Amino acid sequence: MQRSFPTKVIIDTDPGVDDALAILLALASPELEVVGLTTVCGNVPVGQATKNLFRILNLAKTPPGLLVGQGAARPLEEDLVTAEQVHGNDGLGELDSVLTDEGTPRYPQVRLPSVLSTAQDVWNECVRRYPDEVTLITLGPLTNVALALKVNPLTVQKFRSVIVMGGALGVPGNIAPAAEFNMYVDPHAAHRVFQAALPLTLIPLDVTTRVGVTRAVLRAWAAESRDPLGRLATDMTGKAFAFAEKIEGHGRVYFHDPVAVLTAVDSSLLRMEPLHVAVEMVGRVSRGVTIADRRARTPEETASPNMRVAVDVDVERTLSLLRSRLCPWS
Ligand code: RIB
Ligand code: CA
Repeated sequence: MQRSFPTKVIIDTDPGVDDALAILLALASPELEVVGLTTVCGNVPVGQATKNLFRILNLAKTPPGLLVGQGAARPLEEDLVTAEQVHGNDGLGELDSVLTDEGTPRYPQVRLPSVLSTAQDVWNECVRRYPDEVTLITLGPLTNVALALKVNPLTVQKFRSVIVMGGALGVPGNIAPAAEFNMYVDPHAAHRVFQAALPLTLIPLDVTTRVGVTRAVLRAWAAESRDPLGRLATDMTGKAFAFAEKIEGHGRVYFHDPVAVLTAVDSSLLRMEPLHVAVEMVGRVSRGVTIADRRARTPEETASPNMRVAVDVDVERTLSLLRSRLCPWS
């Protein structure tokens, strides 16, 4: 089937500072048409994630007809683990504390619609409107996808592609020594998704931790941009930089979720490898660990791949594209 342009995407997200940057990036990318946005529990509880999503949409140019829905409030089996230590108590770097010169909130809270769709309803409607055309980009735990596989398998099978930010194959984890956050929060959901024979592309920490900036670099990008998006990026990332400087020590904020979105913008930024990847569901120290089977085997003995995995990234081109979209000079 001929690929339509721009690429129609649904973004499933747990905003989250890097999620917010990824959503702003997607809305600013002419290669993409964002037809749906759905929230999932993760960095913050799902109600806060939904508030944050509407707050972000209030600051951006929202496409007409965009469908928004709220998804799962808790992982399939685990208790929810959140990441306010990185994203701030509100999940957006505590934006309420950012004031104008007059002392008023620079980013006022927004009212949510009185009636909110569910993530499943949004996915069903998008697939009804655009069968076999939509790319699903997941930026949080895979709970909504796992639930859809159970209650609406035909919908999930109508996605053209599923891009998943998550996992850590040959690098350390972040939320745990070897586990990446999105996989760690709901390993049972990740396992179901990995086993479902979907057209998966995994964007793991192996590539996303190569695409980061220090506080000084992001400040310079914003200073040279006249677009308010640049200021928003710096206003949102204060807590994340504090974590990167005081706890992690390297001082870099990584563009995990924006890299997943850029995969749909220009896949040539990344080098992909077909691999079989499994996720550990239980384990005192191994919960959420993702393991690729890279053993030397003859072709007929190789474990059949269940996804494409980004194993390398053009860091310079990726950072340059991120800067041009998030902190435009024009
Ligand atoms: O491990 C990084 C991922 O977990 C990102 O999506 C971040 O937003 C958190 O959801
Ligand atoms: Ca996220």
